[in-house]
Amino acid sequence: MRTTNQRSTLPVPPVAPDPWDDLVQEDRVHRRVYTDENIFAREMNNVFAATWVYVAHESEIPEPNDFKLAWLGTRDVIVTRDEESVVRVFSNRCSHRGASVCREQRGNASQFTCPYHGWRFDNRGQLFGIPGKNAYGPTFKARDMHLSRPAQVASYRGFVFATLNPDAPPLVKHLGNAARYMDAWIDYNGGAENLVLAGTQLFRLACNWKLIWDNAGDGYHVPFSHQSLLVMTHARYGGGDMTYFAEADRSKMSNSALDNGHTAIDQRAEMHAESAWQQQRPQPGREPYQDYVAATYGEQAKRVLDTTVGAGMNINIFPNLALIGNQVQVLQPTAVGETVMHWYATRRKDVDAQVNTMRLRTQEDFPVMGEMDDAANFEECQRGLFNHPEDEWVDMSRHYETGKDVAAEDGIIRGLVTTDLHMRNYYAQWKRLMQANPTLCLARGKL
Ligand code: FES
Ligand SMILES: [Fe+2]
Repeated sequence: MRTTNQRSTLPVPPVAPDPWDDLVQEDRVHRRVYTDENIFAREMNNVFAATWVYVAHESEIPEPNDFKLAWLGTRDVIVTRDEESVVRVFSNRCSHRGASVCREQRGNASQFTCPYHGWRFDNRGQLFGIPGKNAYGPTFKARDMHLSRPAQVASYRGFVFATLNPDAPPLVKHLGNAARYMDAWIDYNGGAENLVLAGTQLFRLACNWKLIWDNAGDGYHVPFSHQSLLVMTHARYGGGDMTYFAEADRSKMSNSALDNGHTAIDQRAEMHAESAWQQQRPQPGREPYQDYVAATYGEQAKRVLDTTVGAGMNINIFPNLALIGNQVQVLQPTAVGETVMHWYATRRKDVDAQVNTMRLRTQEDFPVMGEMDDAANFEECQRGLFNHPEDEWVDMSRHYETGKDVAAEDGIIRGLVTTDLHMRNYYAQWKRLMQANPTLCLARGKL
């Protein structure tokens, strides 16, 4: 190399552009993040393994030896409550040849026997039985062949999360200021000790998981996507649920950017302004129930009726848990262009059966009457993004330049309900995760 006392005039080699900065810009994202198999494969490590992912609610496994199947992205796991009532999470992937060890969605079992060659595991994932064990030598016997476990498992007021990343911050830190919204939602539903996840409704959708997540904080689409529902409600009942979205930006609803990509739409100022119950669309059994509550609860009747319907918040815990109304929605990405959406109804232990029946009617209402509108649009977006490679961009610039997203007194940045702040906030977190090189680890040793 030439040396000189003068300042070098050699050109500085350009820094290779960060592909993630190209793909995710402040107000738009590239179509490839929804359609590229390689990006999806990286997401399964950098997002669905390297950060905290929701796996189960403790009420789904209330008794010792209860179990349920769950997912960390495409990884299948079994969530159990062991004989000492400790919640355990381990891979539903046999340590022998990879078959699923458990094929029931949920149940009660102290052990799992792999259907392929009969290896037996206890409900902490530890191998204890191998048919014809004498055929295996000392090298095999020295290996850890227990079912693998994520690096960390933790619970926040009944919501169980796991991650393969040993360096992930504590769960409560990851939830950050979103925990305040979770607390409000849980308390509205009777508190952690009274909340029970009940039945599930499944949708298998031909779209990337992020198209569903984009919509989770979208207060813009309602009067258009759900037009038929709003028109029908208005024509038959003269207004009611969700009609305050017609002039959404003049409403008192808000959209909040929370820590680590979490977000929330708060509809309470409109939905709960007078009576959420009165705004709800009619449902089977409504009038007899209203009479029953009036007779049973007296002065408390209005409060009881209002808590029967939704909590008035959509809280999105990135990347896969949404608390909507009084339901719990969980996303399970299965392929770059396919996602399973799980809608769980909830019930309360501290109310009588009639109240829970009406909660269930409410919980049937939107998934049946409205979710199809959204599902059709998610699949149409996927087709459009996949089939038109020359049209590269997905827009998320609504209210980006209007100065309406501002820090509130509590330090949280909030915007009008139709802002794309939700997308901009979670994509910033998505990009941070995709740029990182996390350590992922599965424990296999004896507990
Ligand atoms: S794959 Fe499970 S015992 Fe062989
Ligand atoms: Fe919708």
